Amino acid sequence: MYGMVNKAIEDLVTINFGADKWDAVKRKAGIEIDAFITNDAYPDCITYGLVTAASEVLELPVNKILFAFGEFWVLHTAQGGYGDLLSAAGRDMPEFLDYLPSFHIRVALMFPHLKPPRFECSDRESNRITMHYYSDRPGLSVFVEGLLNGVAKLYKTAAIVEQTRFKDKGDDHDEFLVRWGDAIT
Ligand code: HEM
Repeated sequence: MYGMVNKAIEDLVTINFGADKWDAVKRKAGIEIDAFITNDAYPDCITYGLVTAASEVLELPVNKILFAFGEFWVLHTAQGGYGDLLSAAGRDMPEFLDYLPSFHIRVALMFPHLKPPRFECSDRESNRITMHYYSDRPGLSVFVEGLLNGVAKLYKTAAIVEQTRFKDKGDDHDEFLVRWGDAIT
């Protein structure tokens, strides 16, 4: 994945736990790169290795890290350098989710080697939507759950995100029901 992803893991760890812990995570992952370059593509195993090492060093379950990373990605990383891209994608959470299937097409203009996730929407009503997530990369559904919660927080919308299909349990893709407004009462 692009360096910006690994750099965002570095920020997540450093901001919440300090630079010493980040050094320990890098050591544990066996990574000798001093600084990740945002626009360089790195092998996926580096990103997975960092998450596993962070889980061990911080003594937190991998899923907790992936969820926190999803929220952090939207609220910190994306909002930091790519705020215009985010605000062009929707005026509120439902509009943003409608647009999400096309979102990474714009991202790919900046990152030509991007291997983006694929999202589809269905069963859209005024207070709910089903998001379908497809990727060749394994184990990222909790990251997506964190991302979707991050989008709700970004738009200050009270929402409930519930995973309803699980690729790692035999379904052909992961699926999430997102509810808001009178659908959460
Ligand atoms: C401005 C905001 C965003 C930028 C710049 C961005 C960029 C990226 C980049 C660079 C990657 C790594 C893929 C690669 O290097 O091949 C990625 C992966 C991913 N992005 Fe985004 N992204 C943004 C927002 C979002 C949002 C809002 C969501 C979902 C709500 C999302 C979902 C994902 C997922 C799930 C992956 C993991 C790749 C996979 O599943 O195969 N991204 N994105």
